[in-house]
Amino acid sequence: MIAHLFNAPLGDGEAAVGVGTVGSSEAIMLAGLAFKRKWQNKMKALGKPYDKPNIVTGANVQVCWEKFARYFEVELKEVKLRDGWDTPIHVDAASGGFIAPFLYPELEWDFRLPLVKSINVSGHKYGLVYAGIGWAIWRSKEDLPEELIFHINYLGADQPTFTLNFSKGSSQVIAQYYQLIRLGNEGYRNIMENCQENAMVLKAGLEKTGRFNIVSKDHGVPLVAFSLKDHSRHNEFEISDMLRRFGWIVPAYTMPPDAQHVTVLRVVIREDFSRTLAERLVMDIDKVLHELDSIPARVTEKLIATSAVEEHHHAIVKKTAIEVQREITATWRKFVAEKKKTNGVC
Ligand SMILES: Cc1ncc(COP(=O)(O)O)c(C=O)c1O
Repeated sequence: MIAHLFNAPLGDGEAAVGVGTVGSSEAIMLAGLAFKRKWQNKMKALGKPYDKPNIVTGANVQVCWEKFARYFEVELKEVKLRDGWDTPIHVDAASGGFIAPFLYPELEWDFRLPLVKSINVSGHKYGLVYAGIGWAIWRSKEDLPEELIFHINYLGADQPTFTLNFSKGSSQVIAQYYQLIRLGNEGYRNIMENCQENAMVLKAGLEKTGRFNIVSKDHGVPLVAFSLKDHSRHNEFEISDMLRRFGWIVPAYTMPPDAQHVTVLRVVIREDFSRTLAERLVMDIDKVLHELDSIPARVTEKLIATSAVEEHHHAIVKKTAIEVQREITATWRKFVAEKKKTNGVC
């Protein structure tokens, strides 16, 4: 069903192959491994060196690609893209794989492109299943080297296996199957359209505050990424931090290389993020902004009071809640900045 959704050639004598995984990360490890082994076999046959495989990715890839490169000893390369390459392509469709077929059926990103040999998708993102399911699909049997597939017969029949784990619960596979046949094309499309509309409600609410630049596009994965217009008094990390008090986890993070100076807040709209929730989030962001606006005054007042107390009583004065909060934010930002991987998507 998923190979069909991704327009794999499924005519007479043609068969896509695929495997259920724990998520897109495992699917990407397996697809990457298949690429590596296929390339090595080809180089061996040509009598050429095969000890330095590499893979070209965008600068904004999810961390699992760096994991794949390190675990499986493949060099991650940055090159200038140009036409005319005959290089196999893997599409990381972790989120988009269950969005594009329903919202943008004309968009040719999948097996309709001849160089696309494999695709991964997370069932637990827009596939609408609980966490723990992903899928890797290969265009044809030839794209998955046979030597990577193990055949066992001790469960009663020949069972081919190409996964990192052997045993795995079947509940998510059943749940995925249920969602696909219960919702069908129309059901998925309605849900994705609804997510898109709720993203637009959120975007409009944020624009209305007059305080943010919207940096995400209106099409694609339903999400809103935004940054402050004015950073002179506050930053996105403080907003993210204060929103936690209202129960929201809205991550603030820096953009990939060459745009690291841009920090964004990002809200990904899922099926269960209703219009009411979108409106409530805007209200809470508004409250946070008002609270932040009043901080300098309060801090100054408190500092004056604090130094007066210190002067007269030489006492050790406790930090204010706001000072503690600022210290936490500063420590957190330092921690994020010092980490090697500070950007990317998830
Ligand atoms: C583009 C992309 N690739 C890979 C992953 C990893 O997927 P998973 O969490 O399903 O392992 C994610 C998200 O988490 C992602 O957004």
